[in-house]
Amino acid sequence: MRGKIVAGNWKMNKNLAETEALLTELSAKLPDTTAEVMVAPTFVNLVAAKHSLESSTIEVIAQNMHFAESGAYTGEISADMLLNIGVDTVIIGHSERRAYFGETDEILEKKVKAALAKNMRVMFCFGEELADRKSENHFNVVESQIKNALFSLDASAWSKIVLAYEPVWAIGTGETASAEQAQEMHAFIRKTITDGFDAAIANKVSILYGGSVKPGNASEIFSKPDVDGGLIGGAALVADDFAAIIKAI
Ligand code: PGA
Repeated sequence: MRGKIVAGNWKMNKNLAETEALLTELSAKLPDTTAEVMVAPTFVNLVAAKHSLESSTIEVIAQNMHFAESGAYTGEISADMLLNIGVDTVIIGHSERRAYFGETDEILEKKVKAALAKNMRVMFCFGEELADRKSENHFNVVESQIKNALFSLDASAWSKIVLAYEPVWAIGTGETASAEQAQEMHAFIRKTITDGFDAAIANKVSILYGGSVKPGNASEIFSKPDVDGGLIGGAALVADDFAAIIKAI
């Protein structure tokens, strides 16, 4: 059985004191769950977050990393630096990284490979823009994002990969894909993995949905058979909301 996951992507939010306060509150409100719960605070607060969650089951993950081992890459963070502070899961390919920081499929493929080479777990994000959906090109876009970054991997790499489908038009907009739209795309993603690798791999990979998941819509989205959890932005910044979304899984 593939695992259920609820992850909070905090993006560029919460200073040190706020990070500690939110994690303390979240730990106290964490519902009983068999799902993996993860939070991705900003780099500068990862160590503090690890410390705050020492006796918690909540995992701390990173929002990004660079593909190089080390060296002259001002402002960047390497896989080894994350591992060194006990962070072994990293989000790669978030649409904001693609849109605002020029991360292409080629760069993302390098990042995925660099993380896997260090035995890290990768949460790989992708999703179409509104224009793609309007022109009914969304399946092609998603297929090519997956193929370009992940199809050159060895089959064995898939045990370290989690996918997150995040339609760009639903991120931070308050507009979510309907549960039916999410299910339709998730089933398509699983078929894409089946075609490129095999059904056993496709059935084992967790596919999260992201894009304006809130306490009010989480249960319906999570009830779909191919939706294995969520990557949560805005609602992950409010302990009650994130706890309610975890409860929904
Ligand atoms: P949102 O963000 O929940 O605020 O739409 C989701 C994401 O970007 O991962």
